[in-house]
Amino acid sequence: MFDMASKAMFAALAESATVKQLASRYGMRRPTSFARRFIAGETVAEAIEAARALERSGLTVTLDLLGEGVASTDAAAAATRAYGDLIQAVASAGVTRNISVKLTQLGLAIDRATSFDNLRRILDVAAAAECFVRVDMEQAVYVEPTLGIVETLWKIGYRQMGVVIQSYLRRSPDDVRRMIALGVRVRLVKGAYRESRDVAFPLKAEVDHAFVDLMRLLLAGGAYPAIATHDPAMIAATREFAESKGLAKNAFEFQMLFGIRRDLQASLSGAGYPFRVYVPFGTEWFPYFMRRLGERPANVGFVVRSVVREK
Ligand code: FDA
Repeated sequence: MFDMASKAMFAALAESATVKQLASRYGMRRPTSFARRFIAGETVAEAIEAARALERSGLTVTLDLLGEGVASTDAAAAATRAYGDLIQAVASAGVTRNISVKLTQLGLAIDRATSFDNLRRILDVAAAAECFVRVDMEQAVYVEPTLGIVETLWKIGYRQMGVVIQSYLRRSPDDVRRMIALGVRVRLVKGAYRESRDVAFPLKAEVDHAFVDLMRLLLAGGAYPAIATHDPAMIAATREFAESKGLAKNAFEFQMLFGIRRDLQASLSGAGYPFRVYVPFGTEWFPYFMRRLGERPANVGFVVRSVVREK
């Protein structure tokens, strides 16, 4: 994990509208451009091509149409329609029927009802196409509304969805128990946003410790948990715990992000664990990309080198 000050700086850049606009204009113009290492492309066709390539090597995918923090109901409605189209495209292409979506892309920053209705529309299309919908988790302020929306939809009867819990949040043990009690599938991650120490652990050791505790809760009682990390120590702890409990390898899955630790992706899948790659695509790649830079100093060097090479 990058040091916390740098991570906070990249998180602040991720939220800057001006920098975002500039980057979207210049960042992904050429196919070799720097964002491409982490993002599958701009179009649905490119995302499906990336999914096919991953599936050929034995991995499954979840497709994420990049976008977050939309400020108008029109933009939220457009994202909802685009997700509907994506689900149809995935179904007709015959690739893994699994998508990831952010509720602020569907209007959660505007009001809860807008994002609720939009997620419900997506779930209706997904149900008809037998597609799974993972609701990503965003800044801490959105955690309760996100869990509340998922919980309400679950109680109405929507079943083909899951959510994400972040181990850096102090509240997460309660949230994990709440999702286990409902039967909602959880993807466990460390957490990628800039949060205050009131709500989140400031130290990597604490975040890691919490990750292991939550992983154990999920493996012991959760519905098909997803352990999403590139951290070899977290992966080893997961394998060890699963083996100690005599769990089948397919009782849970590992997940990693597109373009990160491909060596580990191949070795875990080769060892017989179900493995899913999170495949982000679209033009709104900037905040996602900034969070990836903030996670690892070497990524900044990679960007600088590719910019210099492209000059
Ligand atoms: P950590 O940051 O400690 O890194 C461990 C090691 O992994 C590093 O030393 C490095 O080797 C490698 N690594 C990690 N990040 C890297 C990077 N960007 N580039 C290159 N190497 C890197 N977060 C969130 O808040 N809400 C969400 O919904 C999701 N969704 C999600 C889905 C999936 C499938 C994954 C894998 C992750 C997320 N995340 C997320 C992001 C998550 O919270 C976290 O920020 C990153 O996974 C990095 O944390 P690690 O667990 O990898 O550990």
